[in-house]
This record gives sequence, structure tokens and C-alpha cells, in this order.
Amino acid sequence: MAGMKRVLSGIQPTGEIHIGNYLGAIKQWIELGEKLGREALFTIVDYHALTNPAAYDPALLPKRTFEAALANIAAGLDPERVTLFVQSHVPEHTELSWVFTTQTPLGDLFRMTQFKDKAKKQKSVPAGLLMYPVLQAADILLYKADTVPVGEDQLQHLELTREIARRFNRTFGETFPEPKALLNPKAPRVPGIDGKAKMSKSLGNTIGILEEPSSIWEKLRTAPTDPARVKRSDPGEPTRCLIWRYHTYFSPPELVKEVIEPECRRAGIGCVECKRMLFDSMMKELGPIQERAAELKAHPERVLEGLEEGRKRAAAIAEPVMEEVREKIGLMRPGSRPWED
Ligand code: TYM
Repeated sequence: MAGMKRVLSGIQPTGEIHIGNYLGAIKQWIELGEKLGREALFTIVDYHALTNPAAYDPALLPKRTFEAALANIAAGLDPERVTLFVQSHVPEHTELSWVFTTQTPLGDLFRMTQFKDKAKKQKSVPAGLLMYPVLQAADILLYKADTVPVGEDQLQHLELTREIARRFNRTFGETFPEPKALLNPKAPRVPGIDGKAKMSKSLGNTIGILEEPSSIWEKLRTAPTDPARVKRSDPGEPTRCLIWRYHTYFSPPELVKEVIEPECRRAGIGCVECKRMLFDSMMKELGPIQERAAELKAHPERVLEGLEEGRKRAAAIAEPVMEEVREKIGLMRPGSRPWED
């Protein structure tokens, strides 16, 4: 973490926050926030959510944006220390995004695998889906952030962000740093509860961080395990098992090494027992988050105050950077006297 000066990350307000988001990104944000204070910026990217027709509903967006902020605060982000804000509250994001759009080759955007995957699922593809990573580059570069904690699925977008920064610097003079992605080495790609694909809101294979314990248990109870363990007495190979993987995220390493792994291999514990132990470990971590969320729901103004403080801090960084960009790209500034140059 040496050399990091400013970090920024974002999350879409497209529904409940799941343990993939939590382990892949939010936990790292929280750690970095403790070290960097207000230089750690976290944004709820509501403009990005507009590109997702399955999840976007104008009547629900304000509620989901608020809930995403609440869930992040409950998970441990302290808005008094770090800078937590809503993307659309700082209008320079979309302004910078337009500038980058004019400088980014279409070919670079058509190559993005997330675009290809999402476009395939839609009859009519909105241009915003193609421009999505340009807005993401603007989110990051508007703050001249050097580090971006994300899951593995965002690496290609980060590579494009660096290219956008390089191209801008070449054309208009040194302006932006080339930000690096920061993965959580323990959980760069959390698998879904179906045991097949990456955990993802759009695949419906998630466990929400604020989900009812009884519903979490039901999902664990019916989740697939090592296929070799048909009967209770069949020995298993933990590294093939989804439940083992989740244990590595939530259970103490000694429990995994000294109990879960050897007992699975010698059929000393059954899968249901192993799942119960996982459930206990998960609720040890998620329980306090759920309690804090309930408290915040009873005092929603605390979330609003945090977001307003965050908006002010974010705007204080974004406004001068955007002005620097306007000047560098040659816009006539109000009251300037171009005939004198
Ligand atoms: P979003 O909202 O899809 O996800 C938020 C964060 O969670 C990570 N993540 C995962 N990590 C590990 N395993 C998983 N199964 C998993 N699912 C999601 C994502 O990698 C992400 O870090 N494009 C971004 C939002 C964004 C952004 C930004 C991020 C907009 N502007 C600027 C960083 C910086 C996205 O769709 O995240």
C-alpha cells in the first residue's frame, strides 16, 4: 500500500449489495479508508445504473442509491472519515466523461468483454452501455486517484482508464496519473451460490450482506458441495467445494486448516455440519453489519449528512481538476480575452 495517495472506487445502486461486492471491493475500501481518511473516495454510481435496463427504474433509483450508501456505512465505511458521495451530485463526472468520449476510439470500447456480454442480452443496445467505461474513467481521473480497489471483473476497464489518461496526457500535456487496480488477493472473484458462475446481481446467485439469516441458511443448505461426497461416509476434497471456498472468506484460518479440511477428507464431518459451521462464521461477520443497518434505518438523516459532507469534499477536488481540463482542451473560459493571446 506504500505510495498510495488517493483511492477511488464505485458501486452501482442496482439492488442489494452481495458478499461478492463486500469481499471483492468493500472490505478493501474500508481498510484503505482507515489509512487514508478523506483521500479515500467511494461513490455510488447512479448514472452507470441507467445503462442497466433490467435494474433501472426511475421510481426506485433514489431509494436504491440511498440503500447502497446505507449498506456501505453499515459495512464499516465511516462517512465522517472517508469521502462517500453520490456520482450525480458532482456533475463534473458526466462533463469529463464527454471530453474523454471525444478522445476514445470506438474500437477500444467494442473490445470490452463486459460490453459484449451485456449487449448480447439486449435487443436494442443503448450507446450508454458502450460508453460505460468512459464514464468510469472519468469517475477515477476526475480525482487524479492513483489506486482503485475492485474485483477482477473490472481489470479491463482499469486498463482502458490508463489508456485514456495516457492519450489525454500526450495530446494536452501531463494532467492525469495512470491509476492501478487493487485486488483483494483472497477474493478477486467470488463464486455465486449456484457454484457455477461469478456471484452477480444479474445472475440471481447472490447472498446479500443484509439478507435475513433464515434466507442465507436456506441458500447454504441447498448449495452444491464436492460431488464426490454422495453419502455422509464418502471422503471429500475440500478444494473442489464451494462451501470450503466460502469458509476461506469467513472462517478463522485455523478452523479451515485444522478442522474443515482434514475432517472433510476423512469424512469426519458431513456437508450439512460443515455448512452450519460456515453459517456461524458468516453471521459473526454479517450480524454486526445487519445490526448497524437497522440502526441507520431508524436514523436515516445520518446517511444523508454523510453523503452531503462527502459531496462537498468530492466537489472541492473535482471542480479545479475539471477547470484545468477545460483550459487544457481549449474551451473559451467565461470572461477570458482570447484575442489577447
Ligand atoms: P459493481 O457495482 O458491479 O460492483 C462493485 C464492486 O464489486 C466487485 N465485484 C466482485 N468482486 C469479487 N467477486 C465478485 N463476484 C464480484 N462482483 C462484483 C466489482 O469488481 C466492483 O469492484 N463498473 C463498476 C462500478 C464503477 C467503478 C467506478 C468502480 C463505476 N465507476 C470507478 C471503480 C471505480 C461496477 O459495475 O461495479
